Amino acid sequence: MQDILDELDRRRQEARMGGGTNRIEAQHAKGKLTARERIELLLDPGSFEEWDMFVTHRCTDFGMADTKMAGDGVVTGWGTINGRMTYVFSQDFTVFGGSLSETHAKKICKIMDMAMRNGAPVIGINDSGGARIQEGVASLGGYADVFQMNTLASGVVPQISMIMGPCAGGAVYSPAMTDFIFMVKDTSYMFVTGPDVVKTVTNEIVTAEELGGAKTHTTKSSVADGAFDNDVEALASLRRFFDFLPLNNKEKPPHRPFFDSTDRIDYSLDTLIPDNPNKPYDMKELITRLADEGDFFELQEDFAKNIVTGFIRMEGSTVGVVANQPMVLAGVLDINSSRKAARFVRFCDCFNIPILTLVDVPGFLPGTSQEYGGVIKHGAKLLFAYGEATVPKVTLITRKAYGGAYDVMASKHLRGDVNYAWPTAEIAVMGAKGATEILYRSELGDKEKIAARTAEYERRFANPFVAAEKGFIDDVITPHSSRKRIARAFASLRNKDLQNPWKKHDNIPL
Ligand code: HXC
Repeated sequence: MQDILDELDRRRQEARMGGGTNRIEAQHAKGKLTARERIELLLDPGSFEEWDMFVTHRCTDFGMADTKMAGDGVVTGWGTINGRMTYVFSQDFTVFGGSLSETHAKKICKIMDMAMRNGAPVIGINDSGGARIQEGVASLGGYADVFQMNTLASGVVPQISMIMGPCAGGAVYSPAMTDFIFMVKDTSYMFVTGPDVVKTVTNEIVTAEELGGAKTHTTKSSVADGAFDNDVEALASLRRFFDFLPLNNKEKPPHRPFFDSTDRIDYSLDTLIPDNPNKPYDMKELITRLADEGDFFELQEDFAKNIVTGFIRMEGSTVGVVANQPMVLAGVLDINSSRKAARFVRFCDCFNIPILTLVDVPGFLPGTSQEYGGVIKHGAKLLFAYGEATVPKVTLITRKAYGGAYDVMASKHLRGDVNYAWPTAEIAVMGAKGATEILYRSELGDKEKIAARTAEYERRFANPFVAAEKGFIDDVITPHSSRKRIARAFASLRNKDLQNPWKKHDNIPL
C-alpha cells in the first residue's frame, strides 16, 4: 500500500513543479509569481481543492507526444476567500507558456460549469502565450468553448479576470466577457494584435506596454477596471474586492459586521458645496463619508474621471455608487462616462446590489466629437441601464441636475425608489444664465434687464423645491444627516420586489 501512496505523492509533486525549476526561476526573475503561488495568496490558507491535476494534452503533432506535463498549463479548482466559496483557474506560464490546448480549455470549462451549478464566482488568472500553436484548430475550438461558457455564466455568477502576464490575440475575448478585469503594471498586457503586426499593417511603432499595458487599459481603452503594482498587491486587493460581491444572481449582497454608527451626523458636509456654483468640490469626499468606515473600492478610477463608480457598504451591506465628479469636466456626462457608469449599473442590477446615485451634473457634453462619436447611443446606455434596473435605487442630488442628465441619473421617473436633494440642489432644464439668454434673446443688449431675468430664473428653479412640490424629490435633507437618511432608505428597501415585463432579453443600445 505504501508504494501506491508514494506513487500518488510522486505524481502530485511532479504536477506541482509545473514546467520545472528553471522555468519557475525564469518566472520569478520577471517579477511574477507562479500559478500555484498566486492561488495560495488569493485563497484562504488550506482551502484550495485542486481538480484535474493529472490532466495532460492529447496532441501528437510536432513531437508533443513525448512532452506531456501534468496539469497541462492551468491549475483549476475551488477554495474560499474569507470563508466564501469561489472557483478559480490560474494559467501556468511555466508549462508551454500557459498556452491553451484542448484539454486546458476543458479544465477551465469544467470549473465554470460547476461554478454556475453551485452558484459561486469564477476568478481567472491569465498568464498565457495564447492558442497552443502545436494544436492548431483544436486550440481555437477550446477558446470558443470557454467564450461560450463566459457568455452563459454572465449574469449568473460574477466573473473576474486578473491579467498577470501575456494575454493576446483571440485570448483577450474571454476576459473581455467577464465582469471585471484587473491588471498588474509592467508585467501584463492585452492586445488583439501585437506590436509586430501593428507595425506591418499600420506602420505604427509601439511597445507591448504602450499598446496593451495596464496604463493603456486603465486610462485610454477602459478595458481594465484597475491596475496594481505587483502580483502580491493585486491578489490582496482582489480578496478585498471579492468581499463586496454576492456569490451569484440569486443571493443578496454579502453582509459584514460593521463598526460605524448608522446615525453618524457629519457637519463637515454642510460646507462641502462651495458658495460659488461654478466651483468644484470632490465628490469622493461625500462617498467616503457616507460609507461604513469610509471604505470605498473604486473601479475605473483613471478613466472618465467625470463619473465615479465603485462599492461601499452601508450598515454592512454592499452598495454600488455612481457619482458625478464636479472636479473633472464639471461632472458632465459624455460618451466615456456614460459607458463606464452603464456597465457598472448593469452589473449591480444583475447581482442584486442596491445603487446609490450622487448627482451634480450640468448636462451632456456638447461638441462635434461627442455627436460624431455617438453620444446619443452611449448616453442612452446609461438611461437604459437605470431604467431597466430593479434593484433598490436611492438618489441624492447635491447641486446641479440639469436637462436630460437629470432624468438619466436615477431620477424618480426611472423608478428611483428614494430621491433626496440637498437644499443646494438646482433642478432645471439648464443653468439660469443659459436659460435667460434663450428666453430673452431680444433683451441681451440690456445687461441690467438680463441680470434681473437671470436672478428671477434662479429664484424659481435654482432650488430643489419645485421638484419636491411635484413629488419628484421625496425630501430635501440636510447634508449632515445624509448617511443616516440614506442608510434608512436602503434599509426600507430590503424587501423590494419589482419585476420587468417578460422578454427573452432586452436590446440595450450597444
Ligand atoms: C505553445 C508556447 C506558446 C504557444 C509560448 N510558448 N507561447 N507554446 N504555444 N502559443 C512556449 C515557448 O515555446 C516556451 O517554451 C515557453 O512557452 C515560454 O515562451 P518564451 O517565448 O520563452 O517566453 P517569453 O520570452 O516570455 O515570451 C512570451 C510570449 C511568446 C510573448 C507569449 O512566447 C510568444 O510570442 N508566444 C507566441 C504567442 C502567439 O503568437 N500565440 C498565438 C496567438 S493567436 P519552452 O519549452 O522554451 O519553455 C491566439 C489565437 C487565439 O492566441 C484565438 C482564439 C479565438
